[in-house]
Amino acid sequence: MIVTIDGPAGAGKSSAARQLAKRLGFHFLDTGAMYRAVVYTAIERGIDLTDADALEQVAASIDIQLTDDSVLVDGQDVTRAIRTQAITTATRYAADHPGIRARLVELQRAAAEGQDFVTEGRDQGSIVFPNAECKVFLTASERVRAERRYHDLISRGEDLTFDDVLEKQQQRDERDATRPVGALIQADDAVVLVTDGMSAEEVVDRLHDIVMQHR
Ligand code: DC
Repeated sequence: MIVTIDGPAGAGKSSAARQLAKRLGFHFLDTGAMYRAVVYTAIERGIDLTDADALEQVAASIDIQLTDDSVLVDGQDVTRAIRTQAITTATRYAADHPGIRARLVELQRAAAEGQDFVTEGRDQGSIVFPNAECKVFLTASERVRAERRYHDLISRGEDLTFDDVLEKQQQRDERDATRPVGALIQADDAVVLVTDGMSAEEVVDRLHDIVMQHR
């Protein structure tokens, strides 16, 4: 069974999808981590992110391993390093690149082959797994999403203001919605879950109910 969870930045997809997968005993795929890993590696190698060919070369050459709670690039643990605000902002160079998207979509489909899977991102229900048995569009109001992300970044030791986070989120929403390939689209057959006012546990409970209704 494939469960797709798509939605905008800060909707709480990653942690909810990870917990849901644990509860169901399914594998979990955080597809945003793959785009982040490509950009992180390119920066580490001193590559100019606007050089589309060089960036595509990085995506084609690296080995990305996603376990249930860590991200490894060529064996190096980058789990925390790919979550900074700087990488979050720069990740658009990979996400906007059609060749890189094609490569990562291929890897995502291969990872899910023959497995029970919870996968989260922007295009999972619409493009990558259009025949998924259960699709969820997880969202929350702009302010709630920015507040969650602000608290998350502060707790990781980053120095920024709420207004910075809100402004960057608005730019990211705009890019996610208008990207020519792999834009954030709500699949016609997705169940919409708005998480304003819900605790993390309540979100997982609701997601679990939705999956059970699609089994
Ligand atoms: O979910 P996230 O914040 O880790 O995603 C990082 C970036 O990657 C985000 O700006 C959108 C992009 N992304 C994408 O284009 N397609 C996906 N399936 C997942 C993420």
